[in-house]
Amino acid sequence: MKRKWLNAWDFEKSEMDLVIQFYHTHPINEDQILQTLQEKGINLDNLTEETLKDYDQDHYGGVEAVDILAQKAGIQSSSYVLDVCSGMGGPARYLAHRYGCRVVGLDLTESRYRGAIRLTKLVKLDHLVEFKLGNALEMPFPDYTFHVVIGQEAWFHVPNKPKLIEECARVLKKGGTIAFTDILQVSSGYESDLEKLQQQMPFPYLETLEGYTQLLEKNKFLILEKENLSQLWTTLLQSRLEMYRNLKDKTIQKFGEEHYRKWDETYSLFVSLFKEGKLGGGRFIAKKI
Ligand SMILES: C[S@@+](CC[C@H](N)C(=O)[O-])C[C@H]1O[C@@H](n2cnc3c(N)ncnc32)[C@H](O)[C@@H]1O
Repeated sequence: MKRKWLNAWDFEKSEMDLVIQFYHTHPINEDQILQTLQEKGINLDNLTEETLKDYDQDHYGGVEAVDILAQKAGIQSSSYVLDVCSGMGGPARYLAHRYGCRVVGLDLTESRYRGAIRLTKLVKLDHLVEFKLGNALEMPFPDYTFHVVIGQEAWFHVPNKPKLIEECARVLKKGGTIAFTDILQVSSGYESDLEKLQQQMPFPYLETLEGYTQLLEKNKFLILEKENLSQLWTTLLQSRLEMYRNLKDKTIQKFGEEHYRKWDETYSLFVSLFKEGKLGGGRFIAKKI
């Protein structure tokens, strides 16, 4: 498909530029969250995480999905957690608030990173949560730093999954846990649909349940659980499409009519690929041995 002629380094760089542009013009963003809260009559001076947590999660299943990862990974107040591809910091703040742990969020997109810092200050969690601007393929952390690494609906964007899992293994302490969910390829023979989707949504390729299993095992992880979430996510994605449609006016106001039209077309295609059983989701919990 596209950009095949580039060498590996240029390919990764061009994929990451597309990711940054995509999230810079995403319908869920810091301004939209703050505007929605104000429209609901919430005073931002007294905003707490208990309220914010229902507006700032950019993955499927909201904070309940974060709780599942946290509980399966055994997160507690003494845990030092890394959220790889942390977006606006929704899961990172929620983990600190709910479990009392320290969390670092790493993200590539500067507008997401800056938004995450501001939202965290606003709900006074900056003593527990910090953010780094950076690439998941070259994590700015020493070896053996974290007890838990998490990730939600983001790693499909990363152009080199073997290197990503290697980096997660490197920064985890021995005995530490990786707990993540991601969008997966569940059947083959839909290359033309995928190309159409890739013109709007930046992901170089998708892993499979088996592919992640092999990458984890290669990096000396003991897989504790792997679960196919495809059915559950198909239902969640249908409501998510409705949510984006409810944001139509705000999206047009911020990014223009053409951007909204393209987004709606892309997301509709994305949801239909789930319904047809071509795309799916998975959750992995594994221990570094
Ligand atoms: C769908 S959002 C998920 C955010 C967060 N996990 C959540 O649940 O709210 C995906 C995020 O992945 C980030 N991302 C994609 N590729 C990345 C990379 N190579 N390194 C760091 N962040 C990356 C994007 O900038 C975006 O903020």
